[in-house]
Amino acid sequence: MAIDFEKSRTKENLMRAFAGESQARNRYTIAAETARHQGMYSISQIFLFTADQERAHAERYYSLLKSLSGETVIISGGYPIDHSDSLADLLRSAQHNEMEEYENVYQEFGDVAKEEGFLEAASAFYQIADVEAVHGKRFGKLAEMLENNTYYEREGEGAWMCLNCGHIHRGKRVPEVCPTCRHEKGYFIPVELAPYLECEFMK
Ligand SMILES: [Fe+2]
Ligand SMILES: [Fe+2]
Repeated sequence: MAIDFEKSRTKENLMRAFAGESQARNRYTIAAETARHQGMYSISQIFLFTADQERAHAERYYSLLKSLSGETVIISGGYPIDHSDSLADLLRSAQHNEMEEYENVYQEFGDVAKEEGFLEAASAFYQIADVEAVHGKRFGKLAEMLENNTYYEREGEGAWMCLNCGHIHRGKRVPEVCPTCRHEKGYFIPVELAPYLECEFMK
């Protein structure tokens, strides 16, 4: 039997998801500032790129609440506080939160929405859950690279792209400044994480 949206759990879950995405967007924007202050420009950009996708998720959930425009939805919920000066710690917290959304929160919200007959909301929860898994894995990969010092240096040959000018550097470690544009080391990103590169560079 179809449930009245006004009385549904899905209405509350959409608002919880909107709150969660909005906060994730801000947490990543703040983390991006921390990264920038530490000279890690490329990591700052990854946080901002992800923050923007959280905004898109928030927008999708918010649009599914449109029929309640003018009303206030009261929710209870728990939201994380992840302060740290360590970028690896910030990345690990972000990874944890993303995987929790992927594995638990959005699967459950999707199941409830399906049960209540709100199939569009269910599909938004499931689809966004999959994106959060990608976010979680990327944050985890970055954290691992910082923890084992492979973000800027490799045992064998590595390759990095300068996000300012596009210069590709090959070698064991990134130079202190980009030889092409003279921007500092923090602008370099490992090619396997660099945007818009042709596949040959990923090998
Ligand atoms: Fe999201
Ligand atoms: Fe995410």
